[in-house]
Amino acid sequence: MRRGQWPLAALAAAVALAAAAQDAARGQRVYETQCGGCHYERVHQRERSRSTVKSQAELRVEVARWAAQVQQRPFTLEDLDDIAAYLNETHYRFPR
Ligand code: HEC
Repeated sequence: MRRGQWPLAALAAAVALAAAAQDAARGQRVYETQCGGCHYERVHQRERSRSTVKSQAELRVEVARWAAQVQQRPFTLEDLDDIAAYLNETHYRFPR
């Protein structure tokens, strides 16, 4: 093994994990303040066959579609990515 290979790989993994966790946590806050008014998270726990969302890509599209209905504030692309990450981690669990 070449010197220095492991620490770098470990660091990259740690950064990737931290980024994913942080995004989802941020997505949760945005979701709870902006989207919770209409539906509880139960809507994301429907049977797979009844869900409108069948993949991570569709989830992202659906999040953007709903965000467009919420007029209180404009959503940034980061908001949409974070909400989709949060919902996927907690409910849908699609492979990325
Ligand atoms: C105006 C009320 C309302 C608001 C605000 C709202 N939703 Fe929804 N949402 C609904 C309803 C009603 C459904 C179920 C529609 C159906 O039966 O297909 C739904 C369904 C969804 C679904 C699909 C669930 C599934 O698995 O089929 C997603 C994803 C979703 N909403 C995300 C969001 C996000 C993200 C926000 C905030 C940006 C949001 N919604 C805000 C009313 C709302």
